[in-house]
Amino acid sequence: MKVKALNGFKDILPGETDLWRKVEDLARDIFARFNFSEIRLPILEKTELFARSIGETTDIVEKEMYTFVDKKITMRPEATASVIRAYIEHGLYVKKPVQRLFTIGPMFRHERPQQGRTRQFHQMSVEVLGSDNARVDAELMAMGSMLLSELGLDISLEMNSLGCPECRPGFRTNLLAFLEERKEELCDDCKRRRSTNPLRVLDCKNPSCRQIVQDAPSIQEHLCQECTSHFKAVREGLDQLGIGYSLNKFMVRGLDYYCRTTFEFVTTDLGSQSAVGGGGRYDGLVEELGGPKVPGIGFAMGMERLILLMLQKEGKEDLHAEIDLFVAGLGDDASRLAFSMIHTLRKQGVDAAMDLDGRGLKSQMKQADKAGARYVLIIGGDELAKGFGVLRNMATQEQRELPLNDEGMRVFAESISTVVS
Ligand code: HAM
Repeated sequence: MKVKALNGFKDILPGETDLWRKVEDLARDIFARFNFSEIRLPILEKTELFARSIGETTDIVEKEMYTFVDKKITMRPEATASVIRAYIEHGLYVKKPVQRLFTIGPMFRHERPQQGRTRQFHQMSVEVLGSDNARVDAELMAMGSMLLSELGLDISLEMNSLGCPECRPGFRTNLLAFLEERKEELCDDCKRRRSTNPLRVLDCKNPSCRQIVQDAPSIQEHLCQECTSHFKAVREGLDQLGIGYSLNKFMVRGLDYYCRTTFEFVTTDLGSQSAVGGGGRYDGLVEELGGPKVPGIGFAMGMERLILLMLQKEGKEDLHAEIDLFVAGLGDDASRLAFSMIHTLRKQGVDAAMDLDGRGLKSQMKQADKAGARYVLIIGGDELAKGFGVLRNMATQEQRELPLNDEGMRVFAESISTVVS
């Protein structure tokens, strides 16, 4: 019986991994431009960490976590809680007043798999700890937008403010009063959410709930003076940097730790999964997890969703590996020479391959093509006797002779390195 991968867990195959690396490399480059440092964290944490930060009544904690119940440990469903745990544990706030951290890796949520939604997925997660300046909010959204636009993706930015512990209770009371009046029309989930997490009713996907909340009180009209001016400053920052956005008063996010600015990068190209990334401010969270009173904000991009969008745009055929040279040796003696030659070339930094199984020229040329070889060096009996191989440029089909000795290899390696650099 064949053993298959778990439902919702995906293999990322050769070819696809090139695209993954491209996305990751660009993200690392942009994070460096914005002065972020990498932090690498464990996948398992104490369950309590997520329950206390994400919130006991969120979908994630209530029903989506992979937990070893007996050991009270959980496979991380997101990275923010772990970043903060490490930030507190290692006293990173003492080392720098403002820490700008990013981490890339797998997360786990037991959701129903569908296009753009898997049970193991990957996030690029960034956090700024130690500043409540509205410019940080604007800068983070600008960084996310820069990443998406340099990937060639056309994604919209939506933003909201969820207020703070001063102003949110007033909004909650008004929202509850509104929901009480309309409770019969709500879906079953929202009937339950009314008592556990009423704000989540605002972003319920059920058409009837969506209709009802159109008339609901707006959080933006309930913000206190400080939250209002913070929100205004965030928008000014975005305007100053030329970042387009729209306000979405229904966006509440699925994690409880947010306050003030929340945002999502959204698209209509992924079916029902519209968010490519999302985040927001979480000013009380560090303190709640036992650290100092330090504000924070961050966001995470979902790698699978970015890759799906890139594939829609670029198509699969562009995804093949590329090597510098394929050496096609015909016959035992030529193969033997090719075997040591490619080793010498690899030592000199050349990406080289050959057929190790004694196939004919036609089959070897096919292999070279599949490997995406820029050059093929053909060594048959005649070439071996003359001491010169035939070097073919696969793009132009031009051919020239290359000495089959150390000097020939060195010249080839140098020509490749100048092309590459
Ligand atoms: P989140 O909105 O839960 O936020 O996830 C961020 C992104 O991860 C989503 O926009 C989506 O692209 C991706 N994602 C989430 N679940 C799945 C899934 N099951 N399959 C594929 N992709 C998924 C957070 O996780 C927060 N920690 C973000 C944050 C950082 N807030 C502040 N700092």
